[in-house]
Amino acid sequence: MRYLIISDLHSNDEALSAVLSRVKRKRFDKVICLGDFVGYAADPNKVLDKFRTLPKPSIAIRGNHDKVVAGVDPGEMFNPPALLAARWTAERLSRENLDFLRRQPLGPMLVDDAFVVCHGSPLDEDAYIFSDFDASMNFVHLNRLASAVDICFFGHSHIPSVFTLQPDGIDVEAIRGSRNKLVLEKGKRYLINPGSVGQPRDRNPRASYALYDSLERVVYFDRVPYDARATRTKIIRAGLPAMLGDRLLIGL
Ligand SMILES: [Fe+2]
Repeated sequence: MRYLIISDLHSNDEALSAVLSRVKRKRFDKVICLGDFVGYAADPNKVLDKFRTLPKPSIAIRGNHDKVVAGVDPGEMFNPPALLAARWTAERLSRENLDFLRRQPLGPMLVDDAFVVCHGSPLDEDAYIFSDFDASMNFVHLNRLASAVDICFFGHSHIPSVFTLQPDGIDVEAIRGSRNKLVLEKGKRYLINPGSVGQPRDRNPRASYALYDSLERVVYFDRVPYDARATRTKIIRAGLPAMLGDRLLIGL
C-alpha cells in the first residue's frame, strides 16, 4: 500500500493545490491527514472541500486548530493571532465543513495495522516532539499502544523530521532539501513528521508532504513551491494578522 501523508494544511489553498498537482502522476492508494486542516490562512472552505472530495480513500485525525474551530476546545492556549484566525474561521465555515471537523477523531489512531498517526504526539495531541527527550517518552507510550507497530507519523511542529529509536539511543534528523528518501530498517522504531503543507516552519517556504510505501518500507519526503504571495494577499485582505501571511514567505 502507498500512502500520501499530509499535515497542517492550515487553510492554505494554494499550497494544498500545489501538493495535489505534484502527486497527480504519483502512485498512492490512500490519503492520510494528521490534522490542522484549518487556522491561520483565509481559505478554510476551499481546503476542506478539496480534502472531502479527494478521488482516493482518506483518513484523518483532528489537530489542535481543528478542535478550537469546531468548538471542542476554547483555545485558551492559543496566541492572539492564532485565536483570532480560529474565530474568523469558525464564523465562515460551511455547515458541511464544520460537521466534518467535528467528526474528526482524536489521535493516536492505528492505520491498517501498519502505522500509528497522531497530531502532536502519541501521548498528547497538543504536545510537540522536538527533542530526543520528547521522542523517548513517546516511544515508550507507542510500545504500550501498539507494540507490533514500529512507525508513527505525527504533525504539529511543522518541521519535517525523523526520530529513530535504535539499540544505542535516539537519532534526531531534520529533513533538509527538496527531496529525501528514508528506508526504514527492521529492529528500529520511528517517529516521522512529513512537515506542513500550509505553513512550513523550517525556513523553507515550500509546501511539505511525504509518500509512504508500506511494502517497501520507504518514506519519500518532497517539497513543492507554490504562490505564497497570493496566500499572503488573501490573509491580509481578509483582515487576518499580516504576520500570518509574512511568515509564509520565509517558511517560519
Ligand atoms: Fe499546525
